[in-house]
Amino acid sequence: MTLQKPNLTDIKALFELESASFDKFNSPLSKRAFRYHIDKNFMLVAKENGEILGYILIFAYLKAPRIYSLAVSPKARGKGVAKALISEVLSLFESLRLEVRVDNVAAINLYKKFGFKQIKTLSKYYDDGCDALEMLWLKREFK
Ligand SMILES: CC(C)(COP(=O)(O)OP(=O)(O)OC[C@H]1O[C@@H](n2cnc3c(N)ncnc32)[C@H](O)[C@@H]1OP(=O)(O)O)[C@@H](O)C(=O)NCCC(=O)NCCS
Repeated sequence: MTLQKPNLTDIKALFELESASFDKFNSPLSKRAFRYHIDKNFMLVAKENGEILGYILIFAYLKAPRIYSLAVSPKARGKGVAKALISEVLSLFESLRLEVRVDNVAAINLYKKFGFKQIKTLSKYYDDGCDALEMLWLKREFK
């Protein structure tokens, strides 16, 4: 598996991965949105034999950089792809924050494993009324 910056030829595969990972209540990114983010924001894709297994998207321009999205293809889950993506970005940033659904046990476990701490609950954050946890990771706490 390699981690690399995506390019415009990856949009179709990213969109398919996105559609398989997020329903309408979780604001899946459109092809147009991926085109924008590949150009303007920090993204990494995990690939094997040319196939996209997962991606992470960071809003790095913010004062408090934010993991905006992370998804792994259903057939590639449980094999450490998300771990590889998170490890790489944690080596590049001093701090990262994110929001995650309170019912997303897999993602919450993943973030806790890397030392993200819950700092807030955001009531009815998602379109279906589900709450979000706001989580924060600080490099200085792991030196
Ligand atoms: C959450 C997600 C990104 C995890 O990706 P993954 O590549 O399968 O995760 P990994 O194999 O790297 O697992 C890393 C850790 O996450 C946690 N985890 C992953 N899948 C889990 C599951 N089904 N149940 C509980 N914990 C899980 C575990 O702590 C795991 O560590 P371990 O293997 O040492 O136990 C993936 O399930 C996904 O794409 N889900 C849909 C989209 C999504 O929810 N994105 C996150 C939005 S905030």
